[in-house]
Amino acid sequence: MQKGKFITFEGADGCGKTTQINLLAEYLTKKGYTVKLTREPGCKGLGEKIREILLNYEGDVSDVCESFLFLADRAQNTDIIVKPAVERGEIVLCDRHTDSSVAYQGYGRQLDVERIRKLNSIATSGFNPDRTFVFDIDVETSMQRVGKNKDRMESAGSEFFNRVRNGYLEIGKREPERVKVINSNDTIENIHKQVIKYIEEIL
Ligand code: TYD
Repeated sequence: MQKGKFITFEGADGCGKTTQINLLAEYLTKKGYTVKLTREPGCKGLGEKIREILLNYEGDVSDVCESFLFLADRAQNTDIIVKPAVERGEIVLCDRHTDSSVAYQGYGRQLDVERIRKLNSIATSGFNPDRTFVFDIDVETSMQRVGKNKDRMESAGSEFFNRVRNGYLEIGKREPERVKVINSNDTIENIHKQVIKYIEEIL
């Protein structure tokens, strides 16, 4: 059986990822592919418990502890959901993955980026996405879309989100084959068209 594909979606909060994931899932399903949707943090089961801590815990959280919780969720998602589905020949669409740790904990929290990359490869046993989309959006628009009801991560402030954005752009420059950066100040339809173009390249 032909191996499936692993596709990840990245970008700042409010960048429109979820809309694009759903549109792509519909497109691929219509073409006859079996699509599996998952997300980080919060893959089905144990991941949901880890997500609850990461987004809602109100006490102090060390940056390193935060990193390991995201990585723990990632290991669970990769081993239990992503890899088996790809082995079955499915197309896995994952809302956030390794690049979120690099952008948010590496660039955003200013932890050592190379160390985060190493920890990522331990969490995933080196299982990498076939394609990654970064939906680039300016920090002001992202903050407006998130609105007032902010979770723990969204409360980090505009300097943090400027670093996150810059981190994503650096990731795009470093790995242009895998990572496609899409300007998200465009219509949903135009963005969807670009996503399809880059997906067709790898199908
Ligand atoms: P979520 O509500 O899923 O945000 P979004 O809808 O924007 O994806 O919350 C996930 C939050 O966790 C988001 O602020 C990004 C952050 N995050 C990290 O900081 N590091 C990570 O490795 C991951 C996967 C997410």
